[in-house]
Amino acid sequence: MKIISSIDELRDQLRGQLRTVFVPTMGNLHDGHLSLMRLARKHGDPVVASIFVNRLQFGPNEDFDKYPRTFAADIEKLEKEGVYVLFAPTEKDLYPEPQEFRVQPPADLGNILEGEFRPGFFTGVTTVVLKLFSCVQPGVAVFGKKDYQQLMIIRNMARQFALPTQIIAAETYRAKDGLALSSRNSYLSEQERAEAPALFRELNNIADEMRKGNLDVSLLQNNAMQHLKDRSWHPDYVAIRKRVDLQPPTAGDLAQDEPLVTLAAAKLGVTRLIDNLEI
Ligand code: PAF
Repeated sequence: MKIISSIDELRDQLRGQLRTVFVPTMGNLHDGHLSLMRLARKHGDPVVASIFVNRLQFGPNEDFDKYPRTFAADIEKLEKEGVYVLFAPTEKDLYPEPQEFRVQPPADLGNILEGEFRPGFFTGVTTVVLKLFSCVQPGVAVFGKKDYQQLMIIRNMARQFALPTQIIAAETYRAKDGLALSSRNSYLSEQERAEAPALFRELNNIADEMRKGNLDVSLLQNNAMQHLKDRSWHPDYVAIRKRVDLQPPTAGDLAQDEPLVTLAAAKLGVTRLIDNLEI
C-alpha cells in the first residue's frame, strides 16, 4: 500500500485510473470501516482510502483534539484489506490556506436532526468530501448507513453538482449485542459499553410497534426518549422520518406505507452515540 500525503503525488499516482473506488474515513479503523473496504473492492479498482480528521466538521466544544488517532494500527488493517493507496494528508496538505469556500447543504436537510444539534457539521462534512473527491477523482465512493443523514446529504450533493462519482451505501456493521460500531465507542467505560445497545433496542421497539399497527409517531418517539432518560441517557432526538427526505411523515404517508427510518442520537456519559433503523 502506498501512503501519500500530498495532493500532487496522489494525482500522479492515480492518473489514468477510471474506476477508482474511494472510502473516506477519519481513521481509528474498526470492523465497520473494514467492511466498507471490502464492499469497495466489489465496485471498482484500485481501492483508495483516506484518513483525515477534519477540523471543519467539529464544533468548538466537540472532541476534535481527543478524537482517537491510531495511524500505525490503521495502516496494518488497510494493508490486510488490499487497499492500494492510503491518502493521509496533514491539515497543511488539505487546507494550505483557510478553506473559505464551503459547501452549504440545504437547510431542510442540513439543519435538522444531526444538523440541529451540531451546527455547521454538514457544511464541514460536505466541504471536505467535495475536496477529497476533487483530489482522488473516484468513479465510486462508499459511505456507511450508520451516518444515514450524512449519506443522504452526500448523495444529494453528488447529484446536484453532477459529480462523476457514484455513491454506494454500506449496511451498518454491528457488534453481536446490536451496538453499531463507531470510533466513539472507544470513549465508553465498561459499564457504558454494556448499556450502549439500549439505543438500538429502542429503535427496534419502535419498528415492532409500527409493524403491529401503532402509528402514533409522536407517542412512539416520546416513549423511546423517556425510556432512554430512565436509563440515564441524555437523548438529543429519536425521530421517525421518511427515508426519501428525512421529513416527518404525514398521516397520508403513514396510511400509504411510505418507507420510514427511525434515527436517534443520545449521550451516554460523555459519549454521544447515533444510530438508525429502516422500517
Ligand atoms: O463519516 C466520516 O468518517 C466523516 O464524516 C467523513 C465522511 C470521512 C468526512 O470527514
